[in-house]
Amino acid sequence: MAKRLLGIMPIIALTTVGLLAGVVCYTRPPAGRDIYVRLLEEDNSSTPQQVHISVVGDDKMRISWITDEETPANVYYGSSPGKYTNSATGTTSSYRYVTYHSGQIHDVVIGPLKPNTVYYYRLGSSNNGREYSFKTTPAQFPINLAVVGDLGQTEWTQATLQHISNSNYDMLLLPGDLSYADLIQTLWDSFGRLVEPLASQRPWMVTQGNHEVEKIPLIHTTPFTAYNARWRMPFEESGSTSNLYYSFNVAGVHVIMLGSYTDFDPTSDQYNWLQSDLAKVDRTKTPWLVVLIHAPWYNSNEAHQGEIESIGMKEYMEGLVYRYRVDVVFAGHVHAYERFTRVYQNKANNCGPMYINIGDGGNREGLARNYIDPKPAISVFREASFGHGQLQVLNATHARWSWYRNDDNANVSSDSIWFTTLSNSPACRA
Ligand SMILES: [Fe+2]
Repeated sequence: MAKRLLGIMPIIALTTVGLLAGVVCYTRPPAGRDIYVRLLEEDNSSTPQQVHISVVGDDKMRISWITDEETPANVYYGSSPGKYTNSATGTTSSYRYVTYHSGQIHDVVIGPLKPNTVYYYRLGSSNNGREYSFKTTPAQFPINLAVVGDLGQTEWTQATLQHISNSNYDMLLLPGDLSYADLIQTLWDSFGRLVEPLASQRPWMVTQGNHEVEKIPLIHTTPFTAYNARWRMPFEESGSTSNLYYSFNVAGVHVIMLGSYTDFDPTSDQYNWLQSDLAKVDRTKTPWLVVLIHAPWYNSNEAHQGEIESIGMKEYMEGLVYRYRVDVVFAGHVHAYERFTRVYQNKANNCGPMYINIGDGGNREGLARNYIDPKPAISVFREASFGHGQLQVLNATHARWSWYRNDDNANVSSDSIWFTTLSNSPACRA
């Protein structure tokens, strides 16, 4: 990572975050600056860049990367360094966005792969270029899922990524708002280079936020152009027809990624897909059921109150999520951390999901510091600080959730809770 970060150029100084009200009692340093990650000097237009990986089915991995010029979409891989016993070929695409023309975006699915195993891989050619490596996810418990939303690309993001990198995580789940490119497509490239050291080593599973929409009236009317081209997720494998919502199993966890910025009413494809996906979950195989959205259904921060993506989606989908005994719903969007107790229809309910807002990755918009007073009884812990979370699923019954605050760039565990899956609760058996 250090080598890559040498190429980072600070470009914009942002506003001071200042002191936080409420529970935090130390002086917070100024907000991190935006960073722009360039290609390394020794690299050229055929060098693979922005490498990231994502799981496909039970035992395959999609390798995604970009080159400036046309190169073969080949991956050479094996379980020993320099010995590539297998290879696979995939597809290449590109997109246009106003005057911007993307590089060549390569997607190659490799496998079958063994669980919990380190693989070494080269892109484009088997005998030159960098060798990358990744570790596949475990087939069984325990599994450690890093969770963080609203990442962006600032010095705060860098601190968050460093903490995640130092942890022993198996997969990253991102509930929307990745690059904060906000129409400036070269910032998608910079973001891809920023996250590559992590995202080329562990699967990054993402869903979209409002910053991924990138529509411009009359000029670029297709939403999610860059996001869908650059961050292809395994939607077909779960019967979805859209890259904007999908599901997958990892170890004993069924993860559902929903799309807050596409149709979600009861006549929509997404709603129907969610209904059938939930009906297919076998809690004897995947006792844990986790949902990710971007716009939170529960939120006691003053930011992002009253938005249709929160209110409407909650109105239509909360009943489904409750009926199928979802264990946790993660959201982003609000740039702060908040954990609710188990909730259904605005009241504490032992059979409802725990709601956790984790939109605190460190983007340039800064923190959402103002909370509604008094704190609602269902809100257990809330704090406007950057950080990330880790869901350690120990076994078929117990998990531990921890939130790590970026205090002065140290990684401080600030909120944690042990909890059990609803699938193991006789009182909540559906
Ligand atoms: Fe957002």
